[in-house]
Amino acid sequence: MSMEDKLAVTVALLKRIAAEYSPAVFANSYGAEDMVITDLIARHEIGIDIFSLDTGRLPTETYDLMQKTGEQYPAKKVLVFFPRAESVEAYVNRNGINAFYDSVDLRKECCRIRKLEPLARALSGKKAWVTGLRREQSPTRTDMAHQEFDDGNGMEKFNPLLEWTEKDVWAYIKANKVPYNALHDKHYPSIGCAPCTRSIAAGEDVRAGRWWWENPEFKECGLHAKH
Ligand code: ADX
Ligand code: SF4
Repeated sequence: MSMEDKLAVTVALLKRIAAEYSPAVFANSYGAEDMVITDLIARHEIGIDIFSLDTGRLPTETYDLMQKTGEQYPAKKVLVFFPRAESVEAYVNRNGINAFYDSVDLRKECCRIRKLEPLARALSGKKAWVTGLRREQSPTRTDMAHQEFDDGNGMEKFNPLLEWTEKDVWAYIKANKVPYNALHDKHYPSIGCAPCTRSIAAGEDVRAGRWWWENPEFKECGLHAKH
């Protein structure tokens, strides 16, 4: 499929979501894919609200991009959800400030407190949510569909960039002057929390820098878990 066709299919899908699944929300992590979707929603004035989960441990470059995004798209505000302060306090005081390195269970518990609980609040009362997942990104994402029922969250989930390649994403960003995370220029193709993300070497998998100390089969934070 040509880039023009992919773009047309993506815009049509976003418009259909707004028309048929209102209220629908888009989960923006400020990664390259999510900046493409943010730009499309703003540019075409599509009726999908945007939110982001601020775990409290994001890289400085991501906060810089949040600020820049607000300035570039003043008409499309991104709503920020924080974790519950008392949950973070209890976890940190019991386990330590960087306890996610100690075990997979402690890492998952941190993701649950800092991402999953705020995600549940962000999705509450919505009919559908939209993500920037791409099929290419990970073996766990190869069998996804553009539209699937998310049992865990009890609503439709849409992945409009599913068939886009990394090259497509960057071609769109450059052609449309979309702001992006400065870390992408420093060999960070996939960006999450600062302590759980590192740069990758040439030839490494795009998600090799995420939770790099864990085995590949554990490497999802639970936002996109199959139930
Ligand atoms: S993760 O599961 O490993 O964290 P990844 O970083 O690849 O996911 O992002 C996949 C999609 O999940 C993003 O395109 C976005 O829709 C959603 N997402 C991930 N992190 C966040 C976040 N902090 N805030 C909002 N959405 C997020
Ligand atoms: Fe915690 Fe790391 Fe998960 Fe962020 S990615 S919520 S710091 S374990």
